[in-house]
Amino acid sequence: MAGQKVLLLVGATSDIGHAVAMRYAREDWRILLTARDPARAQRNADDLAARTGADVTMFSLDILALDTLATFVDALPVLPDTVVCVVGELGDQTRAQADPEHAGLVMATNYVGPSLLLGILAERFAQRGHGSIAGVSSVAGDRGRSSNYVYGSAKAGFSSFLSGLRNRLARSGVRVVTVKPGFVRTRMTRSMKLPPILTANPSEVAGAIYEATERATADIIYVRRIWRLVMAVICTIPEPVFKRLRL
Ligand SMILES: NC(=O)c1ccc[n+]([C@@H]2O[C@H](COP(=O)([O-])OP(=O)(O)OC[C@H]3O[C@@H](n4cnc5c(N)ncnc54)[C@H](OP(=O)(O)O)[C@@H]3O)[C@@H](O)[C@H]2O)c1
Repeated sequence: MAGQKVLLLVGATSDIGHAVAMRYAREDWRILLTARDPARAQRNADDLAARTGADVTMFSLDILALDTLATFVDALPVLPDTVVCVVGELGDQTRAQADPEHAGLVMATNYVGPSLLLGILAERFAQRGHGSIAGVSSVAGDRGRSSNYVYGSAKAGFSSFLSGLRNRLARSGVRVVTVKPGFVRTRMTRSMKLPPILTANPSEVAGAIYEATERATADIIYVRRIWRLVMAVICTIPEPVFKRLRL
């Protein structure tokens, strides 16, 4: 359809990603999805098309195949209006402490791959003069904690990259949004017991991303606002006290 806006959703097998694609599809956007295993993501693509009637196309993309990222962007049928990247890997902190390869995978999946891909898209958006970029980071990046600092440090790197990108492109017509969802009920957290007040549904995250990217409501989103307060308190605890807390 002429004039129809286009979303590129990177990470189509994710529950948050699926909810984001659903939100945009309901607003009549054309949807481009990526997954490293498109066959596994096809169920989400079919669900999206069946429930919204959206034009949905799937592409193969491994975010760790760094030398393919620019080619992937250039091969897209159209430069999207908005890109949302939900790619991430929680990993296992205990394993990462003993296994540098695992730690490297967590770091690369949460920071290097998403930053490089969004950086390439940002350049194309800036040349065109408009576009929105949302990267799903985490409150875990706000302060390194003993229980998840490998994941947290990678998200900190990603948040910092998005912050710099946002500031550099502030007058270029390109919006950059950092998403810190707090806890979300998804496949990633299904084995965890999560406090309800701090835990969002994927559709809440999707709604917050849509509002921030398309209605410019915020640059940095804490989906449940209470997380902003929680993290502000955590960030003010002096290091000598913090290291005794075992968080
Ligand atoms: N759930 C939470 O409580 C929570 C809280 C804060 C932040 N987040 C962040 O939200 C995002 C989505 O998380 P989720 O809960 O929906 O978990 P998820 O289902 O594990 O989502 C992670 C996504 O990243 C993709 N991915 C991993 N490695 C990849 C690679 N090398 N190339 C391409 N795609 C790759 C996964 O694809 P595969 O299916 O192929 O593995 C999946 O689509 C993540 O960035 C996560 O860190 C989640």
